[in-house]
Amino acid sequence: MFFVVGQLVAPGELRHWDDRRCQQRHYKKASEQVLMSKQKIHPAKSLHGAIELPGDKSISHRYAMLAALAEGTSELRHFSAAADCHSTLDCMKALGAEVKVERDRVPGSVLADPGLTTVRITGRGLRESKRPLDAGNSGTTMRLLAGILAGQAFTSKLTGDASLQKRPMKRVVGPLRQMGAQISARDDNFAPLEIRGGRLKSIEYEMPMASAQVKSAVLLAGLFADGATTVIEPARTRDHTELALEEFGAKIERHGRTITVHGHAAGNGTSPDAKLQGRALDIPGDLSSAVFFIAAASLLPESTLLIHNVGLNPTRTTILDVFLSMGADIATPQLRTAHGEIVGDLAVKATALKGGVIEGSTVPLVIDELPMLAALGPYTGEGIEIRDAEELRLKESDRIAALAENLRRMGAQVEERPDGLRVAGKRVTPKLRGAEIDPRGDHRIAMALAVAALAAEGPTTIRDSECAAVSFPSFYSELDRLTER
Ligand code: S3P
Repeated sequence: MFFVVGQLVAPGELRHWDDRRCQQRHYKKASEQVLMSKQKIHPAKSLHGAIELPGDKSISHRYAMLAALAEGTSELRHFSAAADCHSTLDCMKALGAEVKVERDRVPGSVLADPGLTTVRITGRGLRESKRPLDAGNSGTTMRLLAGILAGQAFTSKLTGDASLQKRPMKRVVGPLRQMGAQISARDDNFAPLEIRGGRLKSIEYEMPMASAQVKSAVLLAGLFADGATTVIEPARTRDHTELALEEFGAKIERHGRTITVHGHAAGNGTSPDAKLQGRALDIPGDLSSAVFFIAAASLLPESTLLIHNVGLNPTRTTILDVFLSMGADIATPQLRTAHGEIVGDLAVKATALKGGVIEGSTVPLVIDELPMLAALGPYTGEGIEIRDAEELRLKESDRIAALAENLRRMGAQVEERPDGLRVAGKRVTPKLRGAEIDPRGDHRIAMALAVAALAAEGPTTIRDSECAAVSFPSFYSELDRLTER
């Protein structure tokens, strides 16, 4: 029997949530090497119970940006708790939107419920920010916002933390320049970016890489272009931008991997049906965060877990197919749709995982889940092999190198390759040992290794562990709540 998460939140977690803002500041400082926190993970016997994840990060970013562009007030319920999405909110506020963050109360308590945040955003037309816009650790904030800023009649500076300043921006700068924006970047590729926006011309853009962020940047810029802007993807990527644009009233067409958005800013911007309209929207739980708990429940014997209200958009659920192909026991008892997105519960039971190979067009569809799959590798029969994933080296850290180094510290046998890695299964390494993990400031590396640590011999220490707050501030307390030792 499963229980309802909202009624079973421990007081410690509520305090944790109340401290989230403070934690974010703490994390920012930590990423500048001022403060470092450590988290000890002890081996666990099993995992039981129910959980609701913070609102989907990708959807939260998009709704926040479109709400700031729309007319009227939008109500975004179950908005993500991720520090990344709060970077987006801060940027939209600096650009003139009115942003109110309300943490809903636990019934009968003065404390805020960690799962329930409603954000109200009133768009008033964007205006120049007095200070540089800080995307923090968030590639999605920087790349999508670059698309929007390219279409504004003012100049913006966009910056981010040390990790984000090392990530390539040419991939969005290139097409946005083609549309007419003037953009300068450090070494013509890296933040800080200076974007002098204005009236854009529509383009047809055949993307050289499969990236939802690049697709989204061009489509968002397309809102401010004359006529129809078309993007052609080399492989399918998450389609939350397309769905969100539809929800807010943009005119958008999709034919396979070709997407066209009709600009509203030039010429016809005064026609009411060409403008975006504020909406009341519910954001589903983040499947990419759920994956850490799916992995833990699969891994620890006799575990049973119910995950409520997860986003099951088909461009995100390939990870569930991968788990099922490895023998995982995952059921989706109920599905519904909300604002174009599919939402459901997931019931997970422990099972022996076979392992497998992840390659080709599957890679962009599971890109954020690859750290967790790799870290499960040593516990699978055959091991896990990841190919065609050189993009992993360009994430919040070089994830291929970070995984290889940290899994080896735990005793795994890992072959690192330019485009991926092969992690030997339990026939080669019957047991991992606890170790000191350096996640390199990368939230998904910290969380993936924390899950692997649950089934290792002896405790593991995650250095700089607060980086998990980039996507999942309550990750460790939720893991602790659900595990039995
Ligand atoms: C995201 C797209 C992906 C993903 C990132 C979120 C998005 O990045 O890795 O965490 O919200 O569009 P790429 O577009 O660079 O693959």
